[in-house]
Amino acid sequence: MSERLLSVKELKVHFPVAKAGFFTQRQVVHAVDGASFDIPRSKTLGLVGESGSGKTTTGLAILRLVKPTSGQITFDGTALTDLEPEAFRVLRRRMQIVFQDPYSSLDPRSTAGQIVRFPLDIHALGSNAERKERVEDVFSLVGLRPRQMDLFPHQFSGGQRQRISIARALVLQPEFIVCDEPVSALDVAIQAQILNLLTRLRDELNLTLLFISHDLGVISHVCDEVAVMYLGKVVEKAPRYALFKQPLHPYTRALLSAVPARNPELKGTLKRIRLQGDIPSPVNPPSGCRFHTRCPIAQARCQSEEPQLTEQASDHWVACHFPGQDEAAGR
Ligand SMILES: Nc1ncnc2c1ncn2[C@@H]1O[C@H](COP(=O)(O)OP(=O)(O)OP(=O)(O)O)[C@@H](O)[C@H]1O
Ligand code: SF4
Ligand SMILES: [Mg+2]
Repeated sequence: MSERLLSVKELKVHFPVAKAGFFTQRQVVHAVDGASFDIPRSKTLGLVGESGSGKTTTGLAILRLVKPTSGQITFDGTALTDLEPEAFRVLRRRMQIVFQDPYSSLDPRSTAGQIVRFPLDIHALGSNAERKERVEDVFSLVGLRPRQMDLFPHQFSGGQRQRISIARALVLQPEFIVCDEPVSALDVAIQAQILNLLTRLRDELNLTLLFISHDLGVISHVCDEVAVMYLGKVVEKAPRYALFKQPLHPYTRALLSAVPARNPELKGTLKRIRLQGDIPSPVNPPSGCRFHTRCPIAQARCQSEEPQLTEQASDHWVACHFPGQDEAAGR
């Protein structure tokens, strides 16, 4: 079934930054600058890209934790951007988030039980006894023991804290969860346990996920489709298999070529492509194709003409004037 649960169209999130001076214009960070993608129900879309490409801001904007500047976000057929606050609050129960850092995202003064129960209290759902029962249920669902409900976050390990965050996200029985780098703050040995937990819960509870990560190894384990972000835009989007087998955007090819040699099935036959310089400032993104300052195959046209996301193969979308072209063909 490919019914869309979430659709994001031309999403922009711009943050004003401090005014530089009387005669200078107010500057704007183009954190998300025209990102588009869909997620079918029960599927997992991976969002990858370097630090600062706008992944977290995209996830936050979907849940209205930051205000979109423009664009459309549609959830199960309802346009979120037009909803009144009360209607959004009701719908928001069906959409949750798990943050990267289980150390800072849990209130240190509340017990694990209170943290997981809090969303039920906020939405005034069920009687006292029903809320207690629901919290116990989600504790066992995520592999925590009900007697751990009375402990405080600092009494748990990093992996267990992330289980508390997942329990909190699940307590309202959502359909959609943004997982923002849910394992990158954890030890490698614990990462696999939490990833297995998330994929098992996704399958058992029929969840739809937006899975944000900079780690292509993690993405390849968890996701059905992958969207690659660069400077606030989606530059390539494809089913996981197609993206790893035949990456068409030079940025995706560079990311994949940098995957450590211990992961040869991801790296494929790509030779290491070293990108020049850092990701440019999102205050003044480059003209034309915003990757042209670092692209190994850029040509004159790339500086002036912005490439649109177009379908190059079945469900394989790329924003590049020369998709799939070999690096040797470049400058
Ligand atoms: N509230 C804010 N005010 C101003 N700029 C912001 C704000 N939030 C994010 N940014 C900027 O927007 C850009 C995108 O940030 P974002 O956190 O979405 O990136 P990311 O892809 O999640 O990066 P990372 O991989 O480091 O988590 C960055 O340049 C960041 O500094
Ligand atoms: S449009 Fe040009 S600069 Fe942009 S990715 Fe393609 S070849 Fe590189
Ligand atoms: Mg982030």
